[in-house]
Amino acid sequence: MLPTIKWENNKVIMIDQRKLPFKEIYLELNSYHEVAEAISNMTIRGAPAIGIAAAFGIALGVLKLNDGENYIEKFYDICEVFKKTRPTAKNLFWAIDRIKRVFESNKNLPLKVIKEKIIEEALLIEKEDIEINKKISENGERLIKKEEKILTHCNAGELATGGFGTAIGVIKSAFYNGKKIKVYVDETRPFLQGARLTCWELKKAGIPHVLITDNMAGWLMKKGKITCVIVGADRIASNGDTANKIGTYSLAILAKEHGIPFYVAAPLSTIDFSIGTGEEIPIEERNKKEVLEINSISIAPEGTEAENPAFDVTPSSFITAIITEKGVVRKPYLKSLKKLKEVS
Ligand code: MRU
Repeated sequence: MLPTIKWENNKVIMIDQRKLPFKEIYLELNSYHEVAEAISNMTIRGAPAIGIAAAFGIALGVLKLNDGENYIEKFYDICEVFKKTRPTAKNLFWAIDRIKRVFESNKNLPLKVIKEKIIEEALLIEKEDIEINKKISENGERLIKKEEKILTHCNAGELATGGFGTAIGVIKSAFYNGKKIKVYVDETRPFLQGARLTCWELKKAGIPHVLITDNMAGWLMKKGKITCVIVGADRIASNGDTANKIGTYSLAILAKEHGIPFYVAAPLSTIDFSIGTGEEIPIEERNKKEVLEINSISIAPEGTEAENPAFDVTPSSFITAIITEKGVVRKPYLKSLKKLKEVS
């Protein structure tokens, strides 16, 4: 398994995803500020992975708190720093809340014990995520036919999670179970998570794949070259509306038009039951430079305006099924997701 992120000797180690696939560099982060910055600048990215990073980052911050200071206030300040790193992925806020709950239920204990409990919880979030991804993959694998040509967008693999991946986990399970799989990988402009990260992971796993530019999907569907679409998610509203990497919405429309199943694979920690629809999902707007440049080289005349929404929202009516660790759910999602929440 690729170590995307790990806690080692009271430090956070992570692979620098900005440098992949050309350089495999592991960074050693010693302060919570460094971890927060790594989330904001996408050294680490992907909804479950940034949740784990936030949990580890808060643990790093807590480790440096002292008895002589107002450490309760400082703890909340650290959590606030992580809340501001990226707005869309629910897993980030879910992980921060989990750490907060541990702090709150232990805050009357000696600081040394609080520190141990928080590290324990952060490690548990990481461990559980790997197990959850394996379950998602098992559940999703049953939807994959003996022979399938799968389109995926962005990167919902090992690099985006604690391990194994969600959408890519489903693909890997199908492949390891002997199914004949070919993966079409959307390059995923502007950050190129598909070209740089998903192709890197699929190559390592030995899974046949083909890289396409984001504007090719419709034509390939028309030509029968794609038989299903599987993507991950950053936040799912109670009614199933799903925020994922920009470009996902267009794929869902294309899939519907061509009668191709469109699957979303995500853990329950991605579901935001506090919001009714996708309208309420905050969409991150990133630096325009990501659109105007590739590898720091301008691709448009100086002064060109650009927009850079990092995510879009796919209405649940376009989603054939949502694959979670607790099972696969279908429309109407308001009902099926609620049921899933009740059994978990
Ligand atoms: O901007 P990113 O790279 O963090 O966006 C990631 C995605 O959109 C993924 O598809 C999503 O987080 C699911 S990862 C299992």
